[in-house]
Amino acid sequence: MAHPVPAQPTRANSVAFGPGTSASPGQQLHLRRPDDWHVHLRDGAMLQAVVAATARQFARAIVMPNLTPPVTTVAAAAAYRQRILAALGPETDQGFHPLMTAYLSETLDPGELVRGQAEGVFTAAKLYPAGATTNSAAGVRDLAAIGPVLETMERIGLPLLVHGEVTDPEVDIFDREAVFIERHLQPLLARYPGLKVVFEHITTAEAATFVAETGPQLAATITPHHLHINRNSLFAGGLRPDFYCLPIAKRERHRLALRRAATSGDPSFFLGTDSAPHRRQAKEASCGCAGIYNAPFAIESYAAVFEQEGALDKLEAFASDHGPRFYGLPPNRDTITLERQDPASEDAKTVPLTLELDSEAGAPLTLVPFHAGEALPWRLLA
Ligand code: NCD
Ligand code: ZN
Repeated sequence: MAHPVPAQPTRANSVAFGPGTSASPGQQLHLRRPDDWHVHLRDGAMLQAVVAATARQFARAIVMPNLTPPVTTVAAAAAYRQRILAALGPETDQGFHPLMTAYLSETLDPGELVRGQAEGVFTAAKLYPAGATTNSAAGVRDLAAIGPVLETMERIGLPLLVHGEVTDPEVDIFDREAVFIERHLQPLLARYPGLKVVFEHITTAEAATFVAETGPQLAATITPHHLHINRNSLFAGGLRPDFYCLPIAKRERHRLALRRAATSGDPSFFLGTDSAPHRRQAKEASCGCAGIYNAPFAIESYAAVFEQEGALDKLEAFASDHGPRFYGLPPNRDTITLERQDPASEDAKTVPLTLELDSEAGAPLTLVPFHAGEALPWRLLA
């Protein structure tokens, strides 16, 4: 089959794949270059090992601040941004722009956010309820304690990114997101009506409905893994640490609701991978870390979902348009190209079972990528 040539190289052709159309092997899909609105790039040897995978696909990425120690100052965020760019190196940085976030703590001075935004360092600030997830111990115990910070963010237009789960041990882990909406998110939006909020990595039908029904003040990111797996996947044939992340994957009906939200064309939903690498030894342990490493095949993972939903014509909006619109940033100008392959064919390219990454520290750094061993229908061309 001939490769369709785009009429203008800078215009995406995702609209050619309207509802019901199917693609054949070799066919290409051109998309405006996407951004990742939620990623963990880590630091040191891990940063070195993972950052290129994100920069290869995405022009910009909202970089999460949950390092140890967390990124709580303008100076720390500026230095971290430099380390990210240095890890890419001058030839390989590909014009990648890390967008930095501040880690909100109860002792943060609101003036730090004002200065960080004015100096072009902070794009947003991240709220981790203390104890909710990896490196969240320094997070917020009581929202009332950060009132002045939230008022300041509302005033200066700095978006609040929320890990939306309650930490109350009495609440079942599968209910923590839905309970967070009632207990904290709804009152927060009502109290600060001018505050822009991103409900990060939503995992439930309740969250999808709440975001769709709330006004333009609120948006949500959706990860590739929550579009592919449900809670059964965590126990399929045995305990599957590579599918363990927070918020934890929920029932099938939630996964289907997330798929509907992502492919709906509603500008409140956009791409955020929540790629969260942990060394294999740290995942496959008696108390394994939460986080799925999906960065290397992220756009391909999303493309598979959009194709399965007959919604390839909506992929570009979700991946490349809705995020910048919410953040008030210009859309990217260049494009990426995905090529269709037949996943069942013998020569289909598959996702490696493990990635052995160079580590200057010397210790082996093995990561298990999301979709390990699978052939995905769309491949990103270099
Ligand atoms: C993230 C991490 O490892 O930093 N883990 C995860 O399961 N998503 C933290 C987070 O985003 O919750
Ligand atoms: Zn995250």
